[in-house]
Amino acid sequence: MSLPEVKYTQIFINNKFVNSVSGNTFPTVNPTTAEKICDVQETDKADVDLAVKAAREAFRLGSPWRRMDASQRGRLINKLADMIERDAKYIAALETLNNGMIIGTSFSKTIGAVKVLRYLAGWADKIQGKTIPIDGDFLCYTRYEPIGVVAAVIPWNFPVSIVTVKLGNALTCGNTIVIKPAEQTPLTALYIASLVKEAGFPPGVVNVIPGYGPIAGAAIAEHMDVDLVTFTGSTEVGHLIQQASGKSNLKRVVLEMGGKSPNIVFADADLDYAVEVSHKGIFNHSGQVCLAASRTFVQEEIYDEFVKKSVARAKRRVIGNPYLETTEGGPQISQEQVDRIMDLIESGIQQGAKLECGGKRYGDKGYFIESTVFSDVKDDMRIATEEIFGPVQQLIKFKTLEEVSERANKTKYGLAAAVYTKDIDKAISIANTVSAGIVWVNVYGVKGGSVPFGGFKMSGIGREGGQDGLMEYLEVKTVIIKQPGRSNKK
Ligand code: NAI
Ligand code: MG
Repeated sequence: MSLPEVKYTQIFINNKFVNSVSGNTFPTVNPTTAEKICDVQETDKADVDLAVKAAREAFRLGSPWRRMDASQRGRLINKLADMIERDAKYIAALETLNNGMIIGTSFSKTIGAVKVLRYLAGWADKIQGKTIPIDGDFLCYTRYEPIGVVAAVIPWNFPVSIVTVKLGNALTCGNTIVIKPAEQTPLTALYIASLVKEAGFPPGVVNVIPGYGPIAGAAIAEHMDVDLVTFTGSTEVGHLIQQASGKSNLKRVVLEMGGKSPNIVFADADLDYAVEVSHKGIFNHSGQVCLAASRTFVQEEIYDEFVKKSVARAKRRVIGNPYLETTEGGPQISQEQVDRIMDLIESGIQQGAKLECGGKRYGDKGYFIESTVFSDVKDDMRIATEEIFGPVQQLIKFKTLEEVSERANKTKYGLAAAVYTKDIDKAISIANTVSAGIVWVNVYGVKGGSVPFGGFKMSGIGREGGQDGLMEYLEVKTVIIKQPGRSNKK
């Protein structure tokens, strides 16, 4: 397959592609080969100011966007969805070029993004307040209003999905938005910006500003005229964004961060099925998934068998060229991530876990790591406590429901969890007691636009998805009006 052509490399402000104020650019790389794809205009503080100004102007009272009927907002979002669907093959190919995601996943994530936008578009004219009975002769009602200028800081692992969910939520509620893609993966976000213009959104409603986290990202987090920052990425940067809000204008902060999600297999589960789902739960997208099944607890009676089958499965996993339909796993995103993952693999060996397979770099170019499985993993090892974000499976032994319920929660994270069993009581017990924003029973990773998703504990603040997700992008206003008394006779 020939590589897709890159069409947009400039900053998108006010429906125009422009160069950065400084004139600086930065390279973006194909992780499959470690070669540069092209240079992209680099946002710094001056460009952030321009983008926020454009978004504020587009949100001004009386602007085309503020005067637009909610039903028309929904139509525009549907139009954008149609265009992404029209260009899905190209967008998927571009995502794979810049991110290394296998092409099948890039395509299904792009179609998933279309579905999310359509789900959200349907909400645009259905966001409604309440009338509330209160004491006295008063009429009390609430209005759900847009919060204003939203800024989205996007990670590199699922650029299309995360750009569209944040953009869709913001626009459905009538906000304007400034989007900063991750420095590793700006290309699909810039292409989607061109579709925003083609769909007919007024200038300034959507702005896309590629640049580095500590420069462009930090300028967003500190900005005095941004009303909400929605962030997906590391817990480390989540802390910084929350602090920057505290030091600046107390902007609302929504954070979706890391996880160390327990994946609990009871002895009565369908063994082969649980092995396969657990394998995909950690190895999909080469482990670069916030909700990865990164701590697999297996009940002692089936532990040895489970390890044997999981190792055989990992050894069969096909990694390589992400454009080939037969490939199951592509590269990691960058040398930095490879170094981080290799350090954690080394720590697993040093701390006494058993390296069953993998553990080394793969191939002679690009950022590949072998599919790696550890058994005899103990709860306090680094590989059981830190987010690895790589193709590394941890198999941990447990005895009883009570014991695993407690151990599953011994983590600073709380993003996702899964349990495999034929016993409904065990499933419900885990679902009720585990600290996680989403729990799967006999399945892993199922999500959709209508589903609230987010973290307990240090995995996040707020929710993305569904009606709960929309609430993050709205202010609630209460209106109380004196009205004729109930004693008034006609
Ligand atoms: P990161 O958190 O540094 O990057 C995510 C986004 O935050 C990017 O757009 C980046 O430019 C921006 N950013 C970085 N520093 C910033 C700052 N000081 N102020 C504002 N924005 C900033 O993640 P990174 O370094 O790429 O990956 C490190 C680890 O984070 C991974 O190994 C993984 O454990 C976790 N991670 C989790 C993700 C998730 O889906 N929850 C996604 C990406 C990373
Ligand atoms: Mg970082």
